[in-house]
Amino acid sequence: MRKVIADHVVEDIHYPVEGNYIIRLKSHVNIPPVKPGNFAQLLINNSPDVFLRRPFSILNVDYKKRIISFYVKIIGKGTGQLGKYKKGDKVNAIYPLGNSFSIPGLGNKALLVGGGSGIAPFILLAKELRKNNIRTTFLLGGKSKKNILLTEEFEKYGEVLFTTEDGSLGEKGLITDHSIFQSAHFDFDKIYTCGPEPMMKTIGKIARQRSINCEVSLENKMACGFGACLCCVTETVEGNKRVCMEGPVFNVNFLKWQI
Ligand SMILES: Cc1cc2nc3c(=O)[nH]c(=O)nc-3n(C[C@H](O)[C@H](O)[C@H](O)COP(=O)(O)OP(=O)(O)OC[C@H]3O[C@@H](n4cnc5c(N)ncnc54)[C@H](O)[C@@H]3O)c2cc1C
Ligand code: FES
Repeated sequence: MRKVIADHVVEDIHYPVEGNYIIRLKSHVNIPPVKPGNFAQLLINNSPDVFLRRPFSILNVDYKKRIISFYVKIIGKGTGQLGKYKKGDKVNAIYPLGNSFSIPGLGNKALLVGGGSGIAPFILLAKELRKNNIRTTFLLGGKSKKNILLTEEFEKYGEVLFTTEDGSLGEKGLITDHSIFQSAHFDFDKIYTCGPEPMMKTIGKIARQRSINCEVSLENKMACGFGACLCCVTETVEGNKRVCMEGPVFNVNFLKWQI
């Protein structure tokens, strides 16, 4: 897979809600093909405290305009610093990294379950599922309506269901409590999930109980991002695997999760 390692220029950055931003970077070289689930390592060099690159799922790509975008939730120094960048600032980026989601067979039905910034890989995934004629349902969750982003984008690709903790959009409660999981018509062939680990574990458990193929995208802490430091490993049925190389996407049955 061809990789880009290059300075990019901030095209724009906007905050749909406080603490979360979408940053679009313009590349001066052609963007290589990106698969759903691939991520990038961004160098955030405004601050001496942030010397390691930070990993982010690739939200979207405009190959013609050479623009790549990311949805970032501010967690600490790196995401905070990057959120202060302005149009024209430079960000060095390496991508595409990692593996990608697998696409089920023609005519299948897929459920995409995402919480918080975990929705980031779902736009590219939804595009790929549409290309393959897979009927797609999204289940998105957050604290309240304002925390659920990109709804209009997802509606282009399928039915969108919601849960919010305060009940301001969709069903009230946690994403894992949505009534779809109790429905007699729960007939999905594939579940994809990305977000907080407890949420992914619960979704993984539901998938296992119903014998549905389920892929999760892990967001383990990373350092090098190219397989050398082993700081991102996760336990699997075949021993430790590096999330940056063998992941970030894993079949839930391959992980040694106590669920
Ligand atoms: C493959 C992959 C894809 C990702 N995609 C996205 C994305 O699309 N959007 C997004 O907002 N974030 C994403 N993340 C998470 C993102 O990389 C971290 O939030 C970011 O690196 C934190 O950097 P920071 O300097 O702001 O925080 P730091 O100052 O480094 O850390 C602040 C706090 O957050 C904790 N922390 C740091 N990294 C992580 C992590 N990966 N998971 C959980 N806790 C962490 C630290 O232990 C510390 O307590 C992804 C991570 C991976 C591995
Ligand atoms: S981050 Fe270094 S091996 Fe994965």
